[in-house]
Amino acid sequence: MSMEKVYLSEYEKSPYEVKTIDLEFDLDSTKTMVKSKMIISRTGEENQALFLNGDSLELVSIKLDGRELHQSEYELNEQGLSLHQLPAEFSLEIENIINPEANTALDGLYKSGGIFCSQNEPEGFRRITYFIDRPDVMAVYSTKIIADKKAYPILLSNGNLFETGDLKDGKHYAIWKDPHPKPSYLYALVAGDLGCVNDSFTTMNNNEIALNIYCDKGNEDQCSHAMTSLKNSMKWDEERFGREYDLEIYNIVAVDSFNMGAMENKGLNVFNSHYVLADADTATDSNFMGIESVIGHEYFHNWTGNRITCRDWFQLTLKEGLTVFRDQEFSSDMNTRSVQRISDVKALQERQFVEDASPTSHPIKPEAYIQINNFYTATIYEKGAEVIRMIHTLIGEEGFRAGMDLYFKSFDGQAVRTEDFIWAMQEASGFDLEHFTLWYCQSGTPEVNVTSVFDKKSKSLCVTIKQTFSSPTQVNQKPYFFPFKIGLINGSGHECRLQLENAEGQTLVDKGVLLISKEEESFTFTGIKDAPIMSLNRNFSAPVKVHTAYSLSEYAFLMAHDKDEFNRFEASQTIASMVLHKLIDAVEKNEAMSLSDIYSEAFSKVLLDMNMDMSLKADSLSLPSVSMLMQEREVLDVEAIYIARNFLKRELIREWGADIQAQYASLNTEKEYTLQSAEIGRRKLKNTLLSYMGALKDESPVLLQYKKSNNMTDRLAALSILANSRGKGKTEALNHFYKRYKDNTLVMNKYLAVIASSELKETPSNVRDLLEDEVFDIKVPNLVRSLIGAFARNALHFHAIDGSGYAFIADKVLELDKLNPQIASGLSGVYKDYGRLNDTAKALMKVQLERIVNTSNLSKNVYEIISKILA
Ligand code: PHE
Ligand code: ZN
Repeated sequence: MSMEKVYLSEYEKSPYEVKTIDLEFDLDSTKTMVKSKMIISRTGEENQALFLNGDSLELVSIKLDGRELHQSEYELNEQGLSLHQLPAEFSLEIENIINPEANTALDGLYKSGGIFCSQNEPEGFRRITYFIDRPDVMAVYSTKIIADKKAYPILLSNGNLFETGDLKDGKHYAIWKDPHPKPSYLYALVAGDLGCVNDSFTTMNNNEIALNIYCDKGNEDQCSHAMTSLKNSMKWDEERFGREYDLEIYNIVAVDSFNMGAMENKGLNVFNSHYVLADADTATDSNFMGIESVIGHEYFHNWTGNRITCRDWFQLTLKEGLTVFRDQEFSSDMNTRSVQRISDVKALQERQFVEDASPTSHPIKPEAYIQINNFYTATIYEKGAEVIRMIHTLIGEEGFRAGMDLYFKSFDGQAVRTEDFIWAMQEASGFDLEHFTLWYCQSGTPEVNVTSVFDKKSKSLCVTIKQTFSSPTQVNQKPYFFPFKIGLINGSGHECRLQLENAEGQTLVDKGVLLISKEEESFTFTGIKDAPIMSLNRNFSAPVKVHTAYSLSEYAFLMAHDKDEFNRFEASQTIASMVLHKLIDAVEKNEAMSLSDIYSEAFSKVLLDMNMDMSLKADSLSLPSVSMLMQEREVLDVEAIYIARNFLKRELIREWGADIQAQYASLNTEKEYTLQSAEIGRRKLKNTLLSYMGALKDESPVLLQYKKSNNMTDRLAALSILANSRGKGKTEALNHFYKRYKDNTLVMNKYLAVIASSELKETPSNVRDLLEDEVFDIKVPNLVRSLIGAFARNALHFHAIDGSGYAFIADKVLELDKLNPQIASGLSGVYKDYGRLNDTAKALMKVQLERIVNTSNLSKNVYEIISKILA
């Protein structure tokens, strides 16, 4: 196996292009015959060879312009097929055999649960047939699928359905034609005995589009939320971006075995069933939200990804960052904007900030990779979306829309680079984005230190902003250019008018947005009577960490008065972290812990505020997660973090228990389950309060909620609390839950994750037992993520002081690597805190990392991650 790196700087155009490709599949579980006929033309030098990627294929025959080639006329190796001395334009007919049933990597064409299904991004198509498998080779595809009619009545591929018919021996066929040229990674094929839900959508130009969602038979009634979300997405993209759908049909297939969330194949999206199926009894509010956002995401790719695609895989954020930005905006428009913003930023801080501080830190446009599959990361996606959002903040909604229009107009049908996107934004808005593009090539999370000096005499406030930038994997970085939104709040809680001394139009793009471009710069605000409190990086205008010298009281003030909803939330988390870090220090030094009065009071102010949006209130009352707290510790003492966090919870319930319980009771009304924002907010607040009540001795209210709830959100919230309790309600509820949902794999995922996430000491042995349980199957990625993944993220047990957590996960990484390298490498990312462990833990982890990296026949996927961590 070659562990060679691929470099962006070594990009070269393909010397050949494929104009059309006609495929024919004779489907068979272990021996599927693939026939391909391509029309290829040369675009490079005359004597350049044609190289077609091929991986795990059995070649049967090749014909060049109708003449069968002898073995001596081509070269075949592990990587693919080379042909020399070719005419300027020719046809190539290839026949090869593949084995879908043996494809446990779920990459290429695979069979799972009786369904044939494909996944070709980024490099799966080469596991179907020989092809120039790179995104800048765009061809027009047609597909003929032949299969047994009884076992596979549904035959799907990209584009529009052209013809169907019966064949002898109980077989039938379907022909699909996709008129839009596309890269091979967007190719898809599905065949099976599937249930279907149909609907339709009339576009802005009055085209009627058939919408179909396919799923396992019996699950049809769980597709309605996905269907509604699809129609809403189509409408939204027309209204917000003027984008219309461009085929007669839009198909979505939900499958249980899928490596990722979903895939935007042209006209035939394939989804992890987790992001399609939902009803009140089996799905939580956050599952419903996830469905809306992923359905939107894949739909929005039709323009940002499919019509305009990536030149090479280093450009991945071109389609992913932009499409995440679009799906975040969609969710904001469909729900509550500030609530959405908080949840998006939280996700970024918890996952991307950690990645960016680790040995796998990389820019949103990486320079090199060993295995591109490892780069479907929070950085490329979520940080990529923040970079797009900063552009939106800098040039405004109108400028952004004009930039998008120009982007579509200029590059439709092409495979382009991030620079082309930036060009369109700059050209349409007239805003200079050159310095800004550093965000594409520098890695690490910038930190921003803000200080201020108030001068009573001149009634002015001088704000000094200093950025520091560094990355675990880069040197010689330069200062960033970014929008930094601020506000000044006076002592009575009102906003000060922002007036800059020497205000030259360019320093403030819009009210309150400072343009930062230097390592250190100062801004003097005038006309201010008393020293104000600064509200910084409002609405998280830049993906940075902000530091000030503010005290607990000043953050408490912001928590109460900031008119920026995001920053009110952020202040609640900052103050809680400050308090928690003091407590953690105390645990580490073996000193007594005590509850901070200032925090306790700030907490109660939120708790007793009956006018606040319930979702924001729930977020503000929640403590920062263990993983957030871990980020700020220099040397990790995981147990101390748990002790401190649990102490704070207990103290808050001791102090405010009566109010928490009373408010819980008033919110715990029996109502019909609906997905209105207000109802989602009510459940979120209620369950946040219940999680505090979980720290009480008496578990009966939690058990009662478990038993009485009419929906999965409330039931699962109660179950997760019980899974951490020592009472007998735990066994009762867990057994009941298992029995009730044993046959529903999506719900069993929740069950496995609840058990694997428990703090209780029996968790490791429970997890081992569940590996043997009939509901578990190591070949199904969702189950692996729920059981093994959740355990690996359970810091308390993963970092067990005897090293047993490290060893257990290493066993699983190696076991999975043989089956599905992509899932194995995803799991191996949990070792990335290696550098911050104390010496004993580090030595224990090192043994496991070395054991993994020295295993023979290790995949490139796992090798790349583990070798970076060890380096
Ligand atoms: N392109 C998919 C998305 O973001 C993600 C994906 C990547 C799915 C690779 C499968 C394999 O929507
Ligand atoms: Zn995507």
